[in-house]
Amino acid sequence: MRLQDKVAVVTGAARGIGRAIALRFAREGARVAVVDVRETEGHETVRLIEQMGGEALFVYTDVSDAAQVEAMVEAVLERWGTIHILVNDAGICPFEEFLSMPESLWDRVLDVNLKGYFLVSQAVARVMVEQGVKGRIIAVSSISSEFGGSQQAHYCASKAGINLLIKSMAISLGPHGITCNAVLPGTVETDINREALADPAVRAYWSQRAPLGRLGRPEDIAGPVLFFASDDSAWCTGSMLVVDGGTSVNLQ
Ligand SMILES: NC(=O)c1ccc[n+]([C@@H]2O[C@H](COP(=O)([O-])OP(=O)(O)OC[C@H]3O[C@@H](n4cnc5c(N)ncnc54)[C@H](O)[C@@H]3O)[C@@H](O)[C@H]2O)c1
Repeated sequence: MRLQDKVAVVTGAARGIGRAIALRFAREGARVAVVDVRETEGHETVRLIEQMGGEALFVYTDVSDAAQVEAMVEAVLERWGTIHILVNDAGICPFEEFLSMPESLWDRVLDVNLKGYFLVSQAVARVMVEQGVKGRIIAVSSISSEFGGSQQAHYCASKAGINLLIKSMAISLGPHGITCNAVLPGTVETDINREALADPAVRAYWSQRAPLGRLGRPEDIAGPVLFFASDDSAWCTGSMLVVDGGTSVNLQ
């Protein structure tokens, strides 16, 4: 098992990609803090982990709220005493055209997607540095960090910000032995885009755009995240790993 006895915090782990990461980590021997604002689904992730003989803890946390983030870190430390791995995954993407986008929506997306990654990373990294833990911090970014998208100006800007946040953290935390890397998924079928993908034309476009010929599944992202969480990536930091079935290299 590649994460035996490690303690991992996974934000956004109530469902979708975050849940797949939490389950994969648990299968690899990690104890997992499931951090999310969705209580029912969050407890379900914990139940699924316990069902497979693993250990997990749900901690209700809005990642955009500094006080809640501090309380989450305290709760994890109280339970397991340390944190070895952090995966920032919690995100939102409420589609809206640029011209009609209200300031409040812009603020909310940047608060959750970008400030949330900053707040959780800083709080966890402080513990790692204090304890001398040579930790692993991973961000679930997006190929939308490199390309614009209709109805996604706020989301694309937040994801581009995440990439440079991670690169900057890599510089600051490298001397402490902490690695910081990002995974950039293409279109993965989850609740975040279920409505958009219900349109057969949209679905066909994204499936065909990927040379591998299909949409992504949450499990497709969990493996690459596990790579950055494990010792196999010991000399990787500031890396941006695109995981998109080839979508972004296909100009057709
Ligand atoms: N699905 C895709 O096509 C795709 C592509 C690229 C990147 N991503 C990224 O993957 C990550 C996971 O998305 P997903 O597709 O699994 O969507 P999802 O909606 O299924 O999961 C997102 C999770 O984040 C949680 N969350 C939202 N706001 C939060 C907050 N303020 N505090 C704590 N938790 C919060 C949600 O409750 C949910 O459980 C996101 O960062 C998303 O941007 C998704």
